[in-house]
Amino acid sequence: MRKLYVETYGCQMNVADTELIVGTLGTHGWVRVDTPDDADAILLNTCAIREHAEERVLGRLGALARHKRRPGVRLGVTGCMAQHLRDTIRAKAPLVDVLVGPDGYRHLPGLLADDETDPHVGLRLDGAETYADLPVARGGGVRAWVTIMRGCDRFCTFCIVPFVRGRERSLPGPVLVEQVRAAAGAGAREVVLLGQTVNAYRHDDWDFARLLREVAAVPGVARLRFTSPHPAETTNGMIEAMAECATIAPQLHLPVQSGSDRVLARMARDYTVAAYEDLVARLRAHVPGLALSTDVIVGFPGEEPDDFAATHALVERIRYDSAFLFKYSRRDGTRAGKWPESVSEDDKARRLTALIALQESIAADINRGLVGATVEVLVEGPARRQDGWMMGKTPQMKTVVFPGPARPGALVTVRIDATTAHSLRGALATAA
Ligand code: 5AD
Ligand code: SF4
Repeated sequence: MRKLYVETYGCQMNVADTELIVGTLGTHGWVRVDTPDDADAILLNTCAIREHAEERVLGRLGALARHKRRPGVRLGVTGCMAQHLRDTIRAKAPLVDVLVGPDGYRHLPGLLADDETDPHVGLRLDGAETYADLPVARGGGVRAWVTIMRGCDRFCTFCIVPFVRGRERSLPGPVLVEQVRAAAGAGAREVVLLGQTVNAYRHDDWDFARLLREVAAVPGVARLRFTSPHPAETTNGMIEAMAECATIAPQLHLPVQSGSDRVLARMARDYTVAAYEDLVARLRAHVPGLALSTDVIVGFPGEEPDDFAATHALVERIRYDSAFLFKYSRRDGTRAGKWPESVSEDDKARRLTALIALQESIAADINRGLVGATVEVLVEGPARRQDGWMMGKTPQMKTVVFPGPARPGALVTVRIDATTAHSLRGALATAA
């Protein structure tokens, strides 16, 4: 057995890709360990979405380089940043000996075994690669991540994803249902379907709505979620499935990016503010108790104070349960990457701070409304900060902490007695 140490950066897709990498290498005699100290291979599974993500990995590679003193140790960079910055990595981290992009994981066993292999093989984008036949080493916890489609064809002008993850492709429906069945059989109670534009899923005569219904019917799956849908790919079929399948959780991460039509057009988002708000209204009408979250970028090239004010106003109107708020980060290779940056770093920071303050107050307000309510919690495990306390999630994906005992995987009822913008606290009402 050879020892494999992997660190994961970035989004849930990367967490799922790490499970694929570990599963695939597992069939070639590798076993995952949780320290790099005596590993035979060290992999960083990386993200390229913003510059900060790439800087962190370059820093980490510097720190890990000392492990290369042990003879035979292989140091690899996998994922989006390997695809995006192969030359920079080679120049700044010359001890890296394996670079594998998101379509190259199948070659990892060969690349780690033998340095005679063509070093470019791991960086070829392959629009047909879905890994449908490769084993995934799922964490074995309460939640299972299931990748249903890969890549993205939308080419939002700010986004590097279509360039590093390649063209959109979906896995066969029956394969996915079988994966979900296996995950449920191994103890998963919650399934999260993953894809860069997850609701663009399409394979033969399966569309996303059909996949949702078939997966929701798998015995043992108490909750089904998916992330991230694109507003312009959202169909009535998807909304109806959410409304009609009891196991589909009332929670949606629906990235809006901006509240200005002018900026949305320059981002090539393919919807207007009015269309987005209409979609939110239809979702809320069909799915009672729906929790919404979003992504917003501030300081996109050409974003004027008026545009930002429109974003601020939209966030105020929609009242998201939570939001990921980002400063625009210029990405080489994208369309917007060629446009001059018109918003200063200071203005970006000011806009971000203002939006964070708004969102914190909205989230605190929404959560405060839950004091006294009883919520259904899917228990995940011990709470991080309080000894003897447990944590889990509501159907709305809100974090709840409460004094135990409770078994991971159990559905319990908790009466909420205190809240913050980010979590709820309570006590067990009845164990379901
Ligand atoms: N700069 C800042 N944020 C970005 N995102 C994607 N590309 C960029 C970029 N160049 C954000 C978007 C997306 C989320 C995953 O990351 O909001 O929805
Ligand atoms: Fe990037 Fe847009 Fe594709 Fe999302 S839909 S991955 S933001 S290009």
